[in-house]
Amino acid sequence: MDKISRLFVTCGQGLEPLLAEELAELGFSEIYPGFRGVMVKAYHLEAVYRINYASRIGGRVLLPLSQFRCPDPNALYHYAEAINWNQYLSPKHTFAIDANVTHPKLRNSLYAAQVVKDAICDQMREKKGARPNVDTRDPDIQLNLYIRDGQATLSLDTSGLSLHKRGYRQETVEAPLQESLAAAFLRLAKYKGDEIMCDPCCGSGTLLIEAALIASKTAPGYLRKNWGFMNLPDFSQQDWLKVKAEYDSQRITLSKGHFFGCDISQGAVRASRINLRAAGFQDVVEIVQSDFREYTPPCSPNFVITNPPHGQRLSNPAILQSFYRSLGDFLKRMTAKPARGFIFTGNLELAKEVGLAAERRYVINNSGIDSRLLEFDLY
Ligand SMILES: C[S@@+](CC[C@H](N)C(=O)[O-])C[C@H]1O[C@@H](n2cnc3c(N)ncnc32)[C@H](O)[C@@H]1O
Repeated sequence: MDKISRLFVTCGQGLEPLLAEELAELGFSEIYPGFRGVMVKAYHLEAVYRINYASRIGGRVLLPLSQFRCPDPNALYHYAEAINWNQYLSPKHTFAIDANVTHPKLRNSLYAAQVVKDAICDQMREKKGARPNVDTRDPDIQLNLYIRDGQATLSLDTSGLSLHKRGYRQETVEAPLQESLAAAFLRLAKYKGDEIMCDPCCGSGTLLIEAALIASKTAPGYLRKNWGFMNLPDFSQQDWLKVKAEYDSQRITLSKGHFFGCDISQGAVRASRINLRAAGFQDVVEIVQSDFREYTPPCSPNFVITNPPHGQRLSNPAILQSFYRSLGDFLKRMTAKPARGFIFTGNLELAKEVGLAAERRYVINNSGIDSRLLEFDLY
């Protein structure tokens, strides 16, 4: 395998500065935030293991193989064929190409992926007499093709499954938060794991689980078994286990009494309990089924963070307004002062109903919805 010189770590739009901050904490110094990701200089596969295991905000760790001007499909084929694929693939492997392409001469991403697939298969057939098969569901080697403004990047995806798939989400609810987005909120909130936390609309428990992972100093990849990098020809089990052990040795056991949540829905409470069990926090995080307006946490929290409904199901504006006013009351009445409260919502009008002046507002693009994480200081 050729030398590594840089990696591109993907993330949600707007989260680039947060990811850059996280990568600096992971020990990297040459970090360049881009669009929906951060480029980081790295010279050894150890960096690939580290980011895949320990980044809470990153989505995929891409290892660029080739970057080139791509005026048309012929150029794409030419540059894809110029890569020595024997370094990464044998005819026994399966592979897949995830393409994100905007180009006037490449009809769509699927077509662009097809061109690269042909280049790889033609080269391998010529050199090895056989070609690897495509398996889009569970490939040995996942490739990534990105084309914007006529500039193409073809990368190895060292993550395989996206990193937000931590392994604890066994059950879900309507509109769950993505794990890496929940982790980004906790970073924005400067949550360090020493506060008493409550999520009064906890859904499937994502914010509570991500917080418990941070508090227990558990790497986000702790429950995962597989990453794309494990199929790379230069993968070293020994180096990988060394990185893993470095993080795992920092884990601490959490005590009860620091994490509380409720949800009005029986299904959500069931889902969060299943997920908490999968994450190993079933004895640490206490969830009850309740309307938050009738809920008193067993210990007064000084850190409340929640992602309430914002319009899909509670469509009546008057009901929603009173719901958000009640959330403001919850923050005022139930917290141990001084406390901090955070509400994430995609409905900017409703945010005004909380009845508290937000100290800070973080702009978040959540799947195309212009949203805000509002921060309230409570004295
Ligand atoms: C957007 S979802 C939260 C998703 C959650 N953050 C997750 O990652 O799964 C909003 C949740 O608020 C709950 N909810 C709605 N009204 C409620 C109320 N009055 N009291 C408590 N929970 C409520 C819903 O059942 C739903 O699970």
